[in-house]
Amino acid sequence: MSDRQADKDQPNPPQAGELTLEERASMTSGGDAWHLQGIRSKGIPGYMITDGPHGLRKTAATTGAVDLNESVPATCFPPAAGLSSSWNPELVEEVGRAMGEECIQEQVAVILGPGVNIKRNPLGGRCFEFWSEDPFLAGHEAVGIISGVQSRGVGTSLKHFAVNNQETDRLRISARVGQRALREIYLPAFEYIVKTAQPWTMMCAYNQVNGVHAAQDSWLLTDVLRKEWGFKGIVMSDWGADHDRVASLQAGLNLEMPPSGTDDQVVQAVRDGRLEASQLDDMAQGMIDLAAKATPAMERSGYRYDVDAHREVARQAARESVVLLKNDGGLLPLAKDGSIAVIGEFARTPRYQGGGSSHITPTALSSFLDAAGERGVDVDFAPGFTLDDQPQSPDMTQEAVEAAGRADSVLMFLGLPEQEESEGMDRTSLDLPAKQLDLLRAVAQANPHVAVILSNGSVVSLAPWRDKAQAIMEGWLLGQEGGRALADLIFGDVSPSGKLAQTIPMDLDDDPTMLNWPGEEGHVDYGEGVYVGYRYYDSFRKPVAYPFGFGMSYADFELSDVSVRVGEGNTATVTARVTNTSDVDGAETVQVYVAPGAAKVARPSHELKGFAKVFLKAGESCEVRIALDARAFAYWSEAYDGWRVEAGDYEVQVGVSSRDIAATVSVGLPGDGRSLPLSEWSTMDEWRSDPVGSRIVERMEAEGEAGRLPVLPTDNSMATMFMAAMPINSFSVLMGKDGSTLTRYLLDQYRQVPQTGGR
Ligand code: BGC
Repeated sequence: MSDRQADKDQPNPPQAGELTLEERASMTSGGDAWHLQGIRSKGIPGYMITDGPHGLRKTAATTGAVDLNESVPATCFPPAAGLSSSWNPELVEEVGRAMGEECIQEQVAVILGPGVNIKRNPLGGRCFEFWSEDPFLAGHEAVGIISGVQSRGVGTSLKHFAVNNQETDRLRISARVGQRALREIYLPAFEYIVKTAQPWTMMCAYNQVNGVHAAQDSWLLTDVLRKEWGFKGIVMSDWGADHDRVASLQAGLNLEMPPSGTDDQVVQAVRDGRLEASQLDDMAQGMIDLAAKATPAMERSGYRYDVDAHREVARQAARESVVLLKNDGGLLPLAKDGSIAVIGEFARTPRYQGGGSSHITPTALSSFLDAAGERGVDVDFAPGFTLDDQPQSPDMTQEAVEAAGRADSVLMFLGLPEQEESEGMDRTSLDLPAKQLDLLRAVAQANPHVAVILSNGSVVSLAPWRDKAQAIMEGWLLGQEGGRALADLIFGDVSPSGKLAQTIPMDLDDDPTMLNWPGEEGHVDYGEGVYVGYRYYDSFRKPVAYPFGFGMSYADFELSDVSVRVGEGNTATVTARVTNTSDVDGAETVQVYVAPGAAKVARPSHELKGFAKVFLKAGESCEVRIALDARAFAYWSEAYDGWRVEAGDYEVQVGVSSRDIAATVSVGLPGDGRSLPLSEWSTMDEWRSDPVGSRIVERMEAEGEAGRLPVLPTDNSMATMFMAAMPINSFSVLMGKDGSTLTRYLLDQYRQVPQTGGR
């Protein structure tokens, strides 16, 4: 039966009104820890929902999350730490389609992901599950998971809404964040995805946002999510994030997960009038509709996905997730005829995903050593160190150094052991284990031709040791096919094409959020505002180890013919030519950053607003076209309580990292024409720069010259400067009674002018 046929054959879902009050209340909590509530007699199925996000973690248990590592085999795709470096939304969508197919086979109606929280600080314990420090990139990549999964008739859960950027005290902490940072940094990835792909479900965060638990935040769940952005699906709690059923339902939370057995409280609240019956009906109806939406896919019994095809998708995704950071003398790809020492336990025991609720049981697992063996490449392997926290064994060091000394080149697999990175805890340092770095130093002395291959879910410091490595490949966490993908890159079948989705700082203490990390006494202040990641490093010209957007290739590219055409309504279109000037095939990612000219508020020096990845054979060239909408130029104004595009000049920068801009084009925009109403609290400068206000000021000055009004002091520059910055109700400070006369004149005249262009 085709999907469309299945759709047509579905009976209309029941209406909440056809259910008893008790039944409606029961729809708003789960059937068990991993199932929706079903009511068979009313034709409502209780489907399974489960993690996510980089593959399916279908557990057999019905209670809580006690058995995180026990689940049915599923393809383990690269976690977001890796996939986000692909800068390839189509690839992400392909991963999503594959995950959707696995859900159909396993009869899972909703997969719990992706998680698009911002990597505010690289110590964040779930950075490996999140996409970027940049909301534009996070939204434009992760949307592929949603559209891919949902194209298969299975739902997703965009999480964790919102401002869940750390693990420390995550169940209680209040993220104190200003409106502007919320709107520009912490919400846009959610906003973009909701508006373009309508996730079937959203998962609210554990934490509080400005003192309100996300589950009970009607501003977040109803005003912003539903009314402003037009979200049509349901919102579920994170596991255990619903602390007050009635308050949460009222705020717009449809589903408590896992169920706490408190449906009777909901029933009672409706009976007492503390919860409007219509609100419960809306929340329950969302749940009924969700089940109905999933039914066609869930009824495709006997469906089997193609395990091998999905392994190929995972391998391709892993290849594009790797970022080549350094490659002195073209050490990589390795010469086919040289002898190779492979050092590091990670080459044999790959670290391919993070710990916690996203832990997947893979359908297969390839280590780099397996992959080298499959290709018939002979390598001299020494584990070099253990993955536990035992002290370094001198014998292992000696074995590794000897292997390095015998070889033409060395591949050294370093990284963070599993226990150092997991959901539930933040890291305390960016450093790799000391014993690995000591070993690197010893190995590099024996053989300078060392390529370090890294496995880590979030940034590790590279500055202290990078001179010991001739090449560095940041492998992040690459999922089950990571070993084969690394071999494809290391041996040159494919050129690396990943770009950093996260800045690699010189030092942890350079990070702008360190002043407020991880908070204290139940709150964490987001004092850096919008200056997260490269927005800070680039605005304040701080040195970094590797900038946002950076990544090398075996191929060389040239960007040329950059032009920008301004369109209607503060929009623009960027075109550029990309040429592969080398004799190797590869891919380049053109990145567009927008830099505001003079702005009324402090704005980052530039921000990513568009990108396009292009695959070019040796010598090939193509044109890319990137559209910039009005939001690309806007900032969130707290004074206007809305987005503003100021009139003026903007720079459109086109490059291949935030610090490698090939061309800059200046464009003038008309702006949105909005202005705030003037008042007695507006300064003289504000009156003069307002179109209506300036005419009134001119009139007042003319009246002064004609002797019919007092004259503003212009005799000395100090007084003029003071007046300019003063609210007009303070003129009397400098002018006594005459000042009050002028204040009154301005306000009276202003009141008589019909207002346009205000809020
Ligand atoms: C995590 C969610 C996850 C849920 C269910 C929570 O602890 O924060 O991301 O989906 O558990 O496993």
